[in-house]
Amino acid sequence: MKRPTAMIAGTGHAVPKRVLTNHDFAGLGIETSDEWIVERTGIRQRFIAGEGESLTSLSADAARQAMKAAGVTAPELDFIVLGTASPDRLLPATAVEVQAAIGATRAAALDICAACSGWVYGMQVAEGLMATSGAETVLVIGAETLSRIVNWKDRNTCVLFGDGAGATIVKRSTKGRGILSVFSRSDGTLADLLHRPAGGALRPVTPEVLAEGSNCITMAGREVFKNAVRSMAEACDRALDGAKLSATDIDLLIPHQANIRIIEATAKHANMPLEKVYVNVDRFGNTSAASIPIALDEALRSGRIKEGMTVMFVAFGAGFTWGSLVVRF
Ligand code: COA
Repeated sequence: MKRPTAMIAGTGHAVPKRVLTNHDFAGLGIETSDEWIVERTGIRQRFIAGEGESLTSLSADAARQAMKAAGVTAPELDFIVLGTASPDRLLPATAVEVQAAIGATRAAALDICAACSGWVYGMQVAEGLMATSGAETVLVIGAETLSRIVNWKDRNTCVLFGDGAGATIVKRSTKGRGILSVFSRSDGTLADLLHRPAGGALRPVTPEVLAEGSNCITMAGREVFKNAVRSMAEACDRALDGAKLSATDIDLLIPHQANIRIIEATAKHANMPLEKVYVNVDRFGNTSAASIPIALDEALRSGRIKEGMTVMFVAFGAGFTWGSLVVRF
């Protein structure tokens, strides 16, 4: 494929109204502390979806902002690609609900289940659709309502995650802007290190499943941490190789926002000084597929990304899945 084929033409993001700070866990009866969470993860607060807020509503809000920024209307969309691990319903895809909510009458819509790599995978799918199917305008969303699938009795996981949505309009490249390289990998042999053991068709929800909480996310934190550091390092190397660039050519690194220590390790491996790394995990927690597109929208709107800059994105998530992109703006 000739690159760049696809470019980012507009972005948006949305979060729920309710903020849950580290101090608020005491009121929920969870034995933890602000000190422990900040030291181990860098997270200070996260947004939690409440009544009337859903994956569809957050995604639609983010999508409307992205369309406005790109000067695109909903009927112009050819495809909607939505990365999520917490769909509103297991059937149909949340992407079709977003399609209905925003009035994207011409679009085909699908979900991607690649956990925290959902947006990076989604961007690669969008680029492929533009190269092969003639699609001209693709909406790529990364969105999560993880608060609804975490076990609120499990302090190993419930302090880490947050809700939100990030949206990106992808259009055909002009003036050399757009995706310069992509990389993606998966390793299903490690699936059980971060998963929801039950609640799917293999082991449907039963009173027993609910009692043991096995319909919620369970995670082997240390193992996930080690694999995340290793895989994100590989993904940075491969994206740079693919674009024939070196770290000094990258103006900003936007890594998946899971944990400040994983972000710092990734930056160190990639030879990127921390001033060139976007960090908002302190304010949002780990919003999985939403984390990179939320960070991208903030970076664009605050002027941290300017025209002509080259940005590297890198993600890692359950599956395991990991991947990266280098994009010229
Ligand atoms: N508050 C207080 N103590 C907690 C706690 C919490 N929220 N969660 C766990 N602990 C305790 C554990 O019970 C354990 O106690 P013990 O030694 O008495 O058994 C102790 O803290 C250390 O736990 P451990 O899991 O070894 O800590 P850690 O240094 O590995 O940090 C994570 C835990 C989850 C922060 C870390 O492993 C991590 O970030 N992993 C990656 C998670 C991630 O990003 N997942 C998504 C990837 S996309």
